[in-house]
Amino acid sequence: MKKTKQIEKNAKTVNKYLKSKLKGNPKKLYDAAGHLIVNGGKRLRPYMVIRSCQILGGNSSNAMPAASAVEMVHNFTLVHDDIMDNDEMRHGVPTVHKKFGMPIAILAGDVLFSKAFQVITDSKLSPIAVTQLVSRLAKGCVDVCEGQLLDVKMAEEGRIPTQSDYITMVSKKTAALFDVSCAMGAICATDKDNDISNLSSFGRNLGIAFQITDDLIGVMGDPKITKKPVGNDLREGKKSLPILMAIKSAKGNDKKIILKAFGNSKISKNELNKAVEVIRSLNIEENVRKQALKYADKAEKSLSKYSGPAKEELISLLDFVVKRSV
Ligand code: IPE
Ligand code: IPE
Ligand code: MG
Ligand code: MG
Repeated sequence: MKKTKQIEKNAKTVNKYLKSKLKGNPKKLYDAAGHLIVNGGKRLRPYMVIRSCQILGGNSSNAMPAASAVEMVHNFTLVHDDIMDNDEMRHGVPTVHKKFGMPIAILAGDVLFSKAFQVITDSKLSPIAVTQLVSRLAKGCVDVCEGQLLDVKMAEEGRIPTQSDYITMVSKKTAALFDVSCAMGAICATDKDNDISNLSSFGRNLGIAFQITDDLIGVMGDPKITKKPVGNDLREGKKSLPILMAIKSAKGNDKKIILKAFGNSKISKNELNKAVEVIRSLNIEENVRKQALKYADKAEKSLSKYSGPAKEELISLLDFVVKRSV
């Protein structure tokens, strides 16, 4: 399934806004901060901010600072995530630490993080709305850090986690920022707790569905489409849902091949590819997608009382998220 036209249109406006905010000296720092942004990305989170504002009758231009802020935070997490995950490619180009070196990559992440808050405090929104947006975004960042550590810890441990451990981890590392994106969009339109909470819940469940699908793509995807390598989660010993399901269902020699690659940084490319092939042959895709759908259905329920074009677009985003191959 292709990115919808609506997402692409929205991305163009967000890109302009981001470009105007990510300038300064030393130029290299800002080149590094904008590196992943200029080379790709779907801008899903800003899209969710804008549509969450509109579904509650808000004006999309009021949501633009919050939309750019979440994209900056998202990119901050990507830059640091690629360092933690030893990943060398994203958006079809070398990751920030590979291209600019470790010190600049750490600083590029830090500058994205800091600018995100600055964009909100510099906005023309009411002081109450600004405080609430800053508070939500800060909580989201804390959740991402906690979730990222759970991800790293789970990869280090020998223990095979349960599906519920995995859901707790992805709720924090990924779904928290989707949750915050929708809540922030809602805050730009209303101060009604009930509406903010419905949007927040929509974002959280969509975020879980998104990460489950992303983990599937991480082992099954076509790197030409995803523009990031396949099999790295396996090499890094990541306890992603498809990997957990694969280990559970593989038998005999297949299981041996998977376990040999799992968490083995010294595995050859050939053997890693072989393990990926074995996982592909296990037919776990349908089962994994079913899990993603479960969360997409929950998300849809949170919007049951709303109607109109913004709702339609948020619902079709769910469809994009669970069916996507990119
Ligand atoms: C990637 O997110 C990181 C995860 C949470 C899995 P996206 O797929 O939304 O990142 P972009 O589109 O490349 O920015
Ligand atoms: C996603 O991390 C969450 C964050 C970036 C905070 P992953 O490590 O699962 O995502 P990819 O595969 O690198 O995009
Ligand atoms: Mg990663
Ligand atoms: Mg990671």
